[in-house]
Amino acid sequence: MKGIILAGGAGTRLYPASLPISKILLPVYDKPMVYYPVTTLMLAGIKDILIISNPNDLGNFQKVLGDGSNLGIKFSYAVQTETRGIADSFLIAEDFIGDSPVALILGDNIFHGFGFSSMLKTAGQKTHGATVFGYQVNDPQRFGVVEFDENNKAVSIEEKPVVPKSNYAVTGLYFYDNNVVNYAKSLKPSLRGELEITDLNNIYLMHKTLDVEILGRGFAWLDTGTFESLLQASNFVQSMEINTGMKIACIEEVAYRMGYIDAIQLKALSLKYKNNGYGEYIKKIVEQTETIYV
Ligand code: G1P
Repeated sequence: MKGIILAGGAGTRLYPASLPISKILLPVYDKPMVYYPVTTLMLAGIKDILIISNPNDLGNFQKVLGDGSNLGIKFSYAVQTETRGIADSFLIAEDFIGDSPVALILGDNIFHGFGFSSMLKTAGQKTHGATVFGYQVNDPQRFGVVEFDENNKAVSIEEKPVVPKSNYAVTGLYFYDNNVVNYAKSLKPSLRGELEITDLNNIYLMHKTLDVEILGRGFAWLDTGTFESLLQASNFVQSMEINTGMKIACIEEVAYRMGYIDAIQLKALSLKYKNNGYGEYIKKIVEQTETIYV
């Protein structure tokens, strides 16, 4: 399976904070925001990832992530010149996708919760149909919203409904089979001029090939769209990391635990950050491994 991170858009809602650099590269506590969607895809077993950025920020993404070889994975880059909607990603990425299934994650989506890795693994192994994730929210009008029947089966998804049929929003993480490229080509722009991901999901729904997995109570799906929510996301990550002594979205750790790199490569990566807690953390993982092997 291939993976796409959509990190386009101007991010004007966070101006002037995001004036110098893409919002997706702003820090969420101790790491750039893009680390969170990168690790989500890595945990799904995806090693081939395309970053779609606006032309101005492409170089910055390359500086932060490189070609991925130090993590045992591969990053490539593509440009989105104008905001044409989330589903436009599949047109931009047609050659990259080839004949593979593909997962798409929005660059500002942060997920954290027990059991998430195994849900990702299951979705990442599917080669037929699509998987999206539903999450209960207070303000469903802002999202794509799932309607369920009496057997809890999804029957429709509406984009930003005035009268939502449930409180379940569709999050910004989507897994599709290879039909997605052809389905995306059949979409027409919506009233807001965008190729809507919700229209794409409704095509899968029509074909009865859409699974809606619910991310339950206790699960965190964090928004970073406003100054307040960006700070709250940082505070959440800080509090989890300090309480548990484990980092969320440490790309080096995930690469190691997924078996994409070995302990020697991990040790080499820790040297890049030898003067701070981030590097100390990676070093600790190496030392634990060395103890196990002694
Ligand atoms: C987009 C999608 C929406 C989804 C949301 C998740 O909204 O259109 O269906 O629920 O992402 O973050 P937008 O960012 O376009 O407002």
